Amino acid sequence: MNNTLFKGFGTRAIHAGLEPDPSTGAVMTPIYQTSTYAQEAPGKHKGYEYSRTHNPTRKALEANLAAIEGGKYGLAFASGLAAIDTLLKTLNPGDEIISTNDLYGGTYRLFVRVYEKFGLRFHFVPMQQLSSIEEKITEKTRLIWVETPTNPMLNVIDIEAVAQLAKTKGILLAVDNTFASPYLQQPLKLGADIVMHSATKYIGGHSDLVMGALVLNNDALAEQLYFLQNAAGAVPGPMDCFLALRGIKTLHVRMQRHCENAEKVARFLRSHPKVEKVFWPGFPDHPGHEIAKKQMRAFGGMISFTMKGDSIEEAFRAVSSFKIFTLAESLGGVESLAGHPATMTHASIPREERLKAGLSDSLIRLSVGLEDADDLISDLKQVLQ
Ligand SMILES: Cc1ncc(COP(=O)(O)O)c(C=O)c1O
Repeated sequence: MNNTLFKGFGTRAIHAGLEPDPSTGAVMTPIYQTSTYAQEAPGKHKGYEYSRTHNPTRKALEANLAAIEGGKYGLAFASGLAAIDTLLKTLNPGDEIISTNDLYGGTYRLFVRVYEKFGLRFHFVPMQQLSSIEEKITEKTRLIWVETPTNPMLNVIDIEAVAQLAKTKGILLAVDNTFASPYLQQPLKLGADIVMHSATKYIGGHSDLVMGALVLNNDALAEQLYFLQNAAGAVPGPMDCFLALRGIKTLHVRMQRHCENAEKVARFLRSHPKVEKVFWPGFPDHPGHEIAKKQMRAFGGMISFTMKGDSIEEAFRAVSSFKIFTLAESLGGVESLAGHPATMTHASIPREERLKAGLSDSLIRLSVGLEDADDLISDLKQVLQ
């Protein structure tokens, strides 16, 4: 297939990096459920020796991931955190990282509870103000870690502006693109050096796998990461790679509906008398609205909201009463999910830290799925009654 024809996102999602299987002509990439490969003589093989190092299903997925993020190299990992972990292994004791202060709790836990012990130093700052990043830059800063939109406050960080700052200082910029998905936002095109995904979410899209991804253009860094992927070994299995490939084929269509549904739900919540505040970058008065318009194709499927009185008991009662939304961790699947970040996804962040980032006790996070928007709104109505 002629790659120069793969211009649109949908075409790339469905075809890029993929060929009919050479041995049978199977159109869908087969699940090469094998750990090892026959060799004719020691070292004489067809390019595959052992599945931690290479596997044809994973290879196809990695090429496809690179194509949908507009990058040269793609790497798949056993989870989103395994992808971040592998990137952190490129750093050395004493190196400093500046990170978004409002970020996924598991990333925070990996940074602080695992890597501080090995001598990495993290600074958490509100990246909506560029000056807060600048203030923390020292000669030891190696990496800026941006999550945008952030989890769960839906803050929007200007990737292009941070990339310019990072470039002038010779610091790498990595963007966790999980909330936006490659369909809505492509950080490499905005100047980022590395894109990371929890492919568990929108990329997989069906809540049936756990996976991570890194995509980048830098040859030397890619070589280091492929080395670490094999040397440390946090790779996904072929079945999960197949599921991710299958998910990606509908990513663009799913994202369009996620965004449409989220807009309807956000507008409903905003008009509800029991709701205090709705966090959704599509509202013109959202502080990141103009930046979101500039760097995203649409505003995404995630919404957070707080309730009047900010009572944790009220929030618990609400999230336990849904009939269509499921109370569960995770996001980005076809089904709508609701979560209480303070006690679920972000429980590993100390209360003072999360309150500083605006993550209050009654905050409820919604991953708006692909059900009929009217039904989702009816569910929210009965919950908020
Ligand atoms: C924004 C974000 N980044 C990273 C992760 C970690 O990914 P995984 O759960 O696949 O390890 C998550 C998981 O919820 C997430 O929401």
